[in-house]
Amino acid sequence: MLQSENTKDRISYLLKNYSRFEVEFTHGNGAYLYDKNGKEYLDFLSGIAVTGFGHSHPKIKKSAENQINKVWHTSNLFSSGLQEELAEKLAYRAGLEYVFFCNSGTEANEAAIKFARKWGEKRKVIITTVGSFHGRTLGSLSATGQPKLWEGFDPLTPGFVYVPYNDLESIENSVSEDTVAVMLEPIQGESGIIIPSDNYLSKVNELCKKYNLLLIMDEVQTGMGRTGKFFSYQWENVKPDIVTIAKGIANGLPLGAVLCSKEVGDKITPESHGSTFGGNLVSVAVANCVIDLITNELLEKILKLGNEIKETVASMNNRLIKEIRGKGLMIGIELWESHIVVHSHIPSGQDNCEAKKIVKKLLHNELIVGTSGSNIIRILPPFIITQYEIKKFGTILNKTLCDYIYEIENN
Ligand SMILES: Cc1ncc(COP(=O)(O)O)c(C=O)c1O
Repeated sequence: MLQSENTKDRISYLLKNYSRFEVEFTHGNGAYLYDKNGKEYLDFLSGIAVTGFGHSHPKIKKSAENQINKVWHTSNLFSSGLQEELAEKLAYRAGLEYVFFCNSGTEANEAAIKFARKWGEKRKVIITTVGSFHGRTLGSLSATGQPKLWEGFDPLTPGFVYVPYNDLESIENSVSEDTVAVMLEPIQGESGIIIPSDNYLSKVNELCKKYNLLLIMDEVQTGMGRTGKFFSYQWENVKPDIVTIAKGIANGLPLGAVLCSKEVGDKITPESHGSTFGGNLVSVAVANCVIDLITNELLEKILKLGNEIKETVASMNNRLIKEIRGKGLMIGIELWESHIVVHSHIPSGQDNCEAKKIVKKLLHNELIVGTSGSNIIRILPPFIITQYEIKKFGTILNKTLCDYIYEIENN
């Protein structure tokens, strides 16, 4: 017998792999989400860089409804005009020749790793960066330069070496006759919104050319307009051989893609890679709508809105804030630890990650944001926000930070 919904001490059958907040959202509209009690929350997280056009966007909703009413799934055994259309639009944006559809970021990176190795023939080793995040399946996890995420899941997939981000010399020193590619995020999203230093990406591109290596850009979080360019690597003069995307591509429906050059794509023969659900027709119909909404005017607006958010945060002059960084609507607010701010003593072993505690308080104050890295508040608002919402965000953030300082000073 199923448990009643109202049972307070309900046993959860969901695996405990997530730390979840208790809030449950029932519906959304624009930049707002609503919980079971009708409470309204300003969504400055976008489902972790996914719902770039907010919730219930009329055109996006219509594209999903239209396709749902026609056909949902036919399999990749058959031609798809919708997939062809989206592939052409994506390839055009990247200046690449082939597109493969899958369902998520980790799958896109798995495919990218396979494609690079196929192209490299005997060369199998991929250079990635310390602090990177490429996904949770074994290949992508092995590419991820964060040992804490590997714990207990070994043996990892061999063939990865990790170099510090923003360190060209380490890349050059790591190249061997087995190296086939360098794989990078144009901004490290999960480990603290780490921004590439000036011309880092283009210099990595030059190194790749020098040593005949592929450059794989993981645009899963940064792509689809998030940073004010369609792909974030386009902030520099870079021409990757492989680009992976997911998250924002279908505004919340599962879809991922690998874009690659002709040289790489021509090595992938029929039946050598595939996916049952990849390129699902409803997701692809929505993505065709999403991509048409990412105009040059919108990209300019994303940059402007991002600058306004950074200015709003900077103008708070709050003692807890150490640094504000980011591009477009991908912003990190790094915090000082509270014992530095109020010169108090923290007993050893006590959790002193201010960001997590503050994000919880912000949620209570009806603002949704996330965390990243060790002590960073992560802001990923939808592209449809207005000045009014930026002001509202600023008011809630400022009050929450001030209340927090008051609380720690008086404890
Ligand atoms: C840069 C990057 N790559 C890959 C992934 C994995 O994507 P997914 O969770 O869709 O598998 C993420 C997710 O956060 C990401 O930020």
